[in-house]
Amino acid sequence: MKTFSVALLSLFLVSSFMINDEQTRTGLQADPEHSISEIMKIAHGKDSLLNKVAGGDASEEEMKKLLALYVDLLDNDPAKGERADWEAATTKIIVAMNRVMLGQEDAGKGLKQATNCKACHDKHK
Ligand code: HEC
Repeated sequence: MKTFSVALLSLFLVSSFMINDEQTRTGLQADPEHSISEIMKIAHGKDSLLNKVAGGDASEEEMKKLLALYVDLLDNDPAKGERADWEAATTKIIVAMNRVMLGQEDAGKGLKQATNCKACHDKHK
């Protein structure tokens, strides 16, 4: 009987986690393809894709790649900090990235501001 209740309790816990998980999927968040650490290495590592894009030297394909990485960043959950802060910061980056792709004036500068390393690391790293 005891094992039965334990099994039932864990089933209940697992299903309530699943329901909670569904409730956070408002359309804003999907399953990430890369971890935050992978995204940082590709987008902000050596010969940074960000610098190339912000400097106006990137191809259409490179811009799409960076945009996908930033959407992926939003899809992740950082180990530290509030989800709402994370969504605000990553959404700002995605909008800034879209402005670059639309060729708007000073969009590269805006992208650099939105991707302030220290501001985000202080809160979420
Ligand atoms: C929107 C938030 C955010 C921004 C902006 C951001 N980072 Fe990060 N970064 C993180 C988080 C969160 C981690 C911790 C990832 C982990 O360890 O899981 C991280 C980790 C890193 C790492 C370590 C990766 C590893 O695991 O080896 C490097 C390098 C890095 N960031 C570079 C940068 C640079 C350079 C910039 C600015 C151009 C930057 N990041 C901007 C959130 C951000």
